[in-house]
Amino acid sequence: HRKYVAFEPVRKTDRRWPDQVIRKAPDWCAVDLRDGNQALVKPMTVAQKTRLFDLLVKVGFKEIEVGFPAASQPDFDFCRRLIEEDRIPSDVYIQVLTQARPELIARTFEAVKGAPNVVVHVYNSTSTVQREKVFRMDREGVKEIAINGARIVKSHADKDPDTNWIFQYSPESFTGTELDYAREVVDAVNDVWRPDQGQPVVINLPATVEMATPNVFADQIEWINDNVRYRDHFRISVHTHNDRGCAVAAAELAVMAGADRVEGTLMGNGERTGNMDLVTMAMNLYSQGVDPRVDLSGMAEITDVVEACTEIATHPRHPYAGELVFTAFSGSHQDAIRKCLAQYQEGDQWEIAYLPIDPRDLGRRYEEVVRINSQSGKGGVAYVLERDYNISMPRWLQIEFAREVQQTAELDGGEVDSETVHRLFGDRYLAV
Ligand code: KIV
Ligand code: ZN
Repeated sequence: HRKYVAFEPVRKTDRRWPDQVIRKAPDWCAVDLRDGNQALVKPMTVAQKTRLFDLLVKVGFKEIEVGFPAASQPDFDFCRRLIEEDRIPSDVYIQVLTQARPELIARTFEAVKGAPNVVVHVYNSTSTVQREKVFRMDREGVKEIAINGARIVKSHADKDPDTNWIFQYSPESFTGTELDYAREVVDAVNDVWRPDQGQPVVINLPATVEMATPNVFADQIEWINDNVRYRDHFRISVHTHNDRGCAVAAAELAVMAGADRVEGTLMGNGERTGNMDLVTMAMNLYSQGVDPRVDLSGMAEITDVVEACTEIATHPRHPYAGELVFTAFSGSHQDAIRKCLAQYQEGDQWEIAYLPIDPRDLGRRYEEVVRINSQSGKGGVAYVLERDYNISMPRWLQIEFAREVQQTAELDGGEVDSETVHRLFGDRYLAV
């Protein structure tokens, strides 16, 4: 029995992506403490970072990018605190970002000394515009930076065999990079790291700036997937930003096109319009019967901690997490929800009109679903009286009383709470 049912592809097209649905959750990497943090008006304190780290662990993330320690003293101190206070569970990898420069890589290795499991994430920018206008370098020069970075990472790690190392390389601004050149750089990095000889490697392909529709990004991922060396021996990761509002869609299509891993942040905090929202993508999988391999059932705690650490409020319409996303004010929606819920029994497949998932799966309550204002109708008013006061009305009374509640709401201009509905009902029908 499955509460949520996966969609099957309706038709096979000539798309080359191997699949048109996601059947298994990708590996996740939460970058809230690095990409999310670097975009905040007020970067997190060490105490805030620690609180958010503990939440990410509790939710179940196994790879967590904790900072850019060579670029920021608080990030360095945070790494040391995590390690010295023994806060990192044995099945969790902390990830640290560094540019491909010798002194920065050396400082990064200092920051993570003594950690059991570390992803060293080295990057350099490869796009045409960065090569030509920022670095004024040719393709070979930029490729050399990546190869050198890879060599230095390897030589530091070789000296410290007590840590389990994963090496990660990002050609930053991948979406602005010629594909054949991106592949050349990735192959060159892997020639140094040799994932085929047992070294765990992640190649992370970022939409540093989202520049095209998600299908174009997925085509790029598919092309790399099909054309790189050592493909069976390393994970392809994607790291999408939300400039066109499609970061989640791009990551989803990228997984269909062959990506194994997705980086993002809770609620999508991150540079500019943000990073890919882990909550939305994980819950999208969940709602189609795919185990997301993270536990988002404590959504209230998740939004509380994220808001306290980022000092950014959750939008009331944020998918799965916002205050209003399981609320129906309008009469026809309320009526349909009420009828479906009346027929629903625990253990049934979830088929409730206007509610894509059961709000209780996120720790939310049915009480939030039906709320009354001037847009509401008889179904909503009847639902509230039944739910909160065990009063059921015949249909003619529902119609009559709903009109009265609607008039009150129109006069007030706002929401009519359940106590007021009950009082109006008492005044009109129960007064002695
Ligand atoms: O957006 C980006 O390209 C990044 C890289 C450092 C992975 O954050
Ligand atoms: Zn980023």
